Amino acid sequence: MPDSRAIVILTGAGISAESGLETFRASDGLWASYRVEDVCTPAALARDPVLVHDFYDMRRGALAGVVPNPAHDALARLERTWPGDVLLVTQNVDDLHERAGSQNVLHMHGELKSALCAACDHRLRWQESLPPGAVCPACTAPLLRPDIVFFGEIPYQMDRIERALSRADLFVSIGTSGAVYPAAGFVRLAHAYGAETLELNLEPSAGSGWFDECRHGPASIVVPAWVEALLSG
Ligand code: APR
Repeated sequence: MPDSRAIVILTGAGISAESGLETFRASDGLWASYRVEDVCTPAALARDPVLVHDFYDMRRGALAGVVPNPAHDALARLERTWPGDVLLVTQNVDDLHERAGSQNVLHMHGELKSALCAACDHRLRWQESLPPGAVCPACTAPLLRPDIVFFGEIPYQMDRIERALSRADLFVSIGTSGAVYPAAGFVRLAHAYGAETLELNLEPSAGSGWFDECRHGPASIVVPAWVEALLSG
């Protein structure tokens, strides 16, 4: 019987680190230079929209200077060739999974290249700078904002994620510190539903103890090695 297990993959900033994008909690990470309370909460957006829009413009602009790394490529190859279901859930708001060729990507924290209307929830692809007061093409309210899930807001498509975890045979967490819920709790949910759990990360994370197996090293090494072993199983 060929292996066609259902796989749910969760990625975090660590998978994009080797493409040159900053992580959050490294000593030189984004949260060492910016305060969450200033750029990643609804109150911050209301208090200082220019600062918040500039922060995400800076991060959106940085995408032009980076490319997917072998870890992104390996996950795209897995999606193309694995006979079972593969759902790629990412906490990342960059577009590197898509640029590597992954198609079934669920951005639970939103996307830099999307704008959201705070009045009517209309979403549209957005490539350039997004100034405060940009007009929504659907309802004409001047309330387009970065389509990013701020702290205190509800991550996207949680029902779909929980359904996939309930059916998963294998849950793999890649490049995340396990510091932020609900993503940090996925391993326990997957385990409770009987899935095998694997962590691929540079170093032990806050959640390592919940995984059946942990393989530590740079994502561009450990992720292709894992995919190759799975496909040549
Ligand atoms: N290869 C593999 N893993 C790496 C690499 C690498 N080259 N570099 C760093 N890592 C790992 C770190 O060991 C760490 O466990 O990636 C993880 C990055 O952790 P964080 O900076 O906390 O990023 P992340 O886990 O994605 O943060 C989760 O927090 O601030 C919010 O919304 C934000 O989505 C983000 C969420």
